[in-house]
Amino acid sequence: MGHNDKSTWGQSHRESTHAIDPIYLNRWSPRSFSEKPVEAEVLHRIFEAARWAPSGSNEQPWRYIVARTPEDRATFLKFIMPGNTAWCDKAPVLALLLSTKLSSRDEPLRSHSFDAGTSWGYLALESVRQGLVTHAMGGFYPDKARELLHIPNEYEVEIVIAIGYQGEKEALSEAYQEREIPNSRRGLEEVVFEGSFGDSLST
Ligand SMILES: Cc1cc2nc3c(=O)[nH]c(=O)nc-3n(C[C@H](O)[C@H](O)[C@H](O)COP(=O)(O)O)c2cc1C
Repeated sequence: MGHNDKSTWGQSHRESTHAIDPIYLNRWSPRSFSEKPVEAEVLHRIFEAARWAPSGSNEQPWRYIVARTPEDRATFLKFIMPGNTAWCDKAPVLALLLSTKLSSRDEPLRSHSFDAGTSWGYLALESVRQGLVTHAMGGFYPDKARELLHIPNEYEVEIVIAIGYQGEKEALSEAYQEREIPNSRRGLEEVVFEGSFGDSLST
C-alpha cells in the first residue's frame, strides 16, 4: 500500500488547512512498538536522510549514538526516565542525538541544537517513508547518558529517539492506550505573522 493510503496510516482525522504532502500528517509519535527488528539497510536509510540536513556553515553538528543490541539498549534504559522506559523498552532501536557546541575551527557554534533538530526532523520524515515510526524523548538524564556513553563535554546531549515498527495499541498499558492517538496543531494564524509580531498573515 502506498504512503498516501489513509487506511494504512489511520490518521485520517489529522487534517491540514492547506494542501501539503501527507507525510507531514502521517508522521506522529506512537508509543507502541512491534517486536519486528529494523533491518540494517532501513536503519542506514533514515540516518542517511538525517545526514543531509542543512546546518549553519554546513558544520553538521549532529551526532547519533545507536543502541540496538540487548546490551546497548539496557544501558540506554538506565538513563531514560521511568515515564518513558515504561513503553520505549519495546523499541528495537534507541538513538541518542548529540550536537557539538564547537565548530571545526573550535569556535562556539550558535546553531548546534537548531541544526540537530533539523536533522532529527529529516530522520523522522524518512522513517515514515520507510514504514517506521519514531518517538523523540526529552525525558532522560543527560548527565547519566554522558557518563555511561563516554560523551565528551563539548557535545550537548539533545534527545533520545525510539525507532521501530508500530505495534498494537492494545499492547500498551491502559493509561498509554488513551494517549495513543495523533494530536493536532495550533492554527497558522497563531504561529505565522506578517510584517510585525502578532499581525496576521494576509490571504
Ligand atoms: C524535544 C522533544 C522532546 C520530547 N520528549 C518526550 C518525552 O520525554 N516523552 C514522550 O512521550 N514524548 C516526548 N516527545 C514527543 C512530543 O510530545 C510529540 O512530538 C508532540 O506531542 C507532537 O506529537 P506528534 O509527534 O505525535 O506529532 C518529545 C518531542 C520532542 C520533539
